[in-house]
Amino acid sequence: MTVQPTTGPAVPGESPETTRDRVAALLARSRERSTRLTDLDDGELTAQHSPLMSPLVWDLAHIGSQEELWLVRDVGGRTPLRPEIDGLYDAFQHSRSSRVGLPLLTPAEARGYVAEVRDKALDALHRSPLRGRPLEDDGFAFGMIVQHEQQHDETMLATHQLRSGAAVLDAPAPPRAPGPVAADAEVLVPAGPFEMGTSAEPWALDNERPAHVVDLPAFRIGAYPVTNGRYAEFVDAGGYDDPRPWTEAGWAHRVAEDLVAPRFWSRDSGGGWWRRRFGVVEPLPLDEPVVHVTFHEAQAFARWAGARLPTEAEWEKAARFDPASGRSRRFPWGDDDPTSAHANLGQRHLQPAPVGAYPAGASALGVHQLLGDVWEWCDSGWHPYPGFRMFPYPEYSEVFFGGDYAVLRGGSFGTDPAAVRATFRNWDHPVRRQIFSGFRLARDASPAERDR
Ligand code: AVJ
Ligand code: FE
Repeated sequence: MTVQPTTGPAVPGESPETTRDRVAALLARSRERSTRLTDLDDGELTAQHSPLMSPLVWDLAHIGSQEELWLVRDVGGRTPLRPEIDGLYDAFQHSRSSRVGLPLLTPAEARGYVAEVRDKALDALHRSPLRGRPLEDDGFAFGMIVQHEQQHDETMLATHQLRSGAAVLDAPAPPRAPGPVAADAEVLVPAGPFEMGTSAEPWALDNERPAHVVDLPAFRIGAYPVTNGRYAEFVDAGGYDDPRPWTEAGWAHRVAEDLVAPRFWSRDSGGGWWRRRFGVVEPLPLDEPVVHVTFHEAQAFARWAGARLPTEAEWEKAARFDPASGRSRRFPWGDDDPTSAHANLGQRHLQPAPVGAYPAGASALGVHQLLGDVWEWCDSGWHPYPGFRMFPYPEYSEVFFGGDYAVLRGGSFGTDPAAVRATFRNWDHPVRRQIFSGFRLARDASPAERDR
């Protein structure tokens, strides 16, 4: 009997052989994606496409460097392959905008390096008992490295979006909604406690842990992310000319950077909106979630619309809470790993899907497209959960706690399913918008709704 390669993360209690099969399949999938994103000529790979981003060849060798550090040196117990390059690929030693000036590995050298590292990482996978040590239990270090490569693949996808010149990536269009959709529909989430975070998910990262109970008052949340069509109404109504809906910091940023619309939008002489997407300029699809907005723009839209952004806890309750059982699910649709029917993840499409396109992915409460399509800005800073324990290194999340960041949830069309869960937490500066960032609205429940 042939065993189907398992495509999700480790399941508690499964055999090491099964975990090993999963890891091998996921490592292959992430490398296939990295290879595709770096299938460009040397000039494109070494160029600085934006001061916000590293040259693509840096991301590629950094992926190898992290894999070597954790899987080859730590788990595998081997000596460094190229100790002299460690500092070049340490994200804390060099800013993104300065990396182009470093004596980086050439594209050919970087490809050779990541291949050699992978060879030795697979050797470590076959030697590790995947037991008996926190870093190796249930293949954690391997799951962490799969997620790391996929995170940098999404970063490289954002670099592709910033490139000028003709398109080099291609993908089929996402599905459409099966029927009519009320884009501004809202869902009432009842008051009460729910379990936030996880202690059970083997490959959840330190910042998602531990599971803890959070009690929330009743609130309303958008059934869909805010669309381009709704956002264009805000722009067309002069939303960028009126400081009132903006916070002080948001308005200061909008003025300093002369923001007039989401990034990659342009207006034609007739007042119609166009957008540039991976090298193609096309009419703005009004039923797609808005993408490439800062936290400040999201917040200004929300205030203009008489609403607010959800907090991170509200977002997670809307995504996970099942009122029938009272428990929190792994994903909005249940406990099963994502398939292409549930969510627009994994760079299968190169854009968000129109709202309503994934009815099978709705949460128990009836909230759609929480995973995939666009990362969703939440009105929460970046803080540890009560009981947080750093593992396995402080530079993943801990050193960023309390900084000038806002939380993003749910992943985008460019996030691999291996790199996102309903408990997954992302964060970025509130002025960033080269990421695939959108948002949905929330509001307090009315007194009548609260008493129900
Ligand atoms: C969690 C997405 C903020 O990409 O900057 C990659 C992930 N950490 N390498 C980032 C990460 C180290 C990180 N984010
Ligand atoms: Fe990294």
